Amino acid sequence: MTKVTMTVNGKTVAKEVRGNTLMTEFLRDELRLTGTHVGCDTSQCGACTIHVNGLNVKACTIFAAECDGAEVGTIEGQANADGSLNVIQQAFQDHHGLQCGFCTPGMVMAAASLLKDNPKPSEAEIRHYLEGNICRCTGYHNIVKAIMAASGQDVSVIAAE
Ligand code: FES
Ligand code: FES
Repeated sequence: MTKVTMTVNGKTVAKEVRGNTLMTEFLRDELRLTGTHVGCDTSQCGACTIHVNGLNVKACTIFAAECDGAEVGTIEGQANADGSLNVIQQAFQDHHGLQCGFCTPGMVMAAASLLKDNPKPSEAEIRHYLEGNICRCTGYHNIVKAIMAASGQDVSVIAAE
């Protein structure tokens, strides 16, 4: 076992972990932050997307021990301080960017990373960025629309479905 200390959504946490404990297991089982979903465990679906030191990371691809000392962000840390939905989450709601919701935490985390690096992405840039995030329900159309709306752009440029 190894002791790891990291900041998760602004709070310092310290735990003993096995060397092979994945971040998905650490977040969900040790910290009970179950908003980080596990859709494949093989780095394909993006449902487990989190932020580690400001980077978009699939939590099933990284060990908890590798995050020792890191700043980690999960979907639970995305809401505004008063608990209201942040601009991306609200846009997903407004534009029906989800159906079953399984992929949604990963989509919101990926969108947050994209908009941090590229505040006004084009439709093509959004679609390209989301290549690592799979949604089995929406056909992506309304997800793209939501991200475009969250960036303050006119969603009418996206063709009707
Ligand atoms: S659970 Fe990590 S990419 Fe699917
Ligand atoms: S909303 Fe169901 S998988 Fe995306």
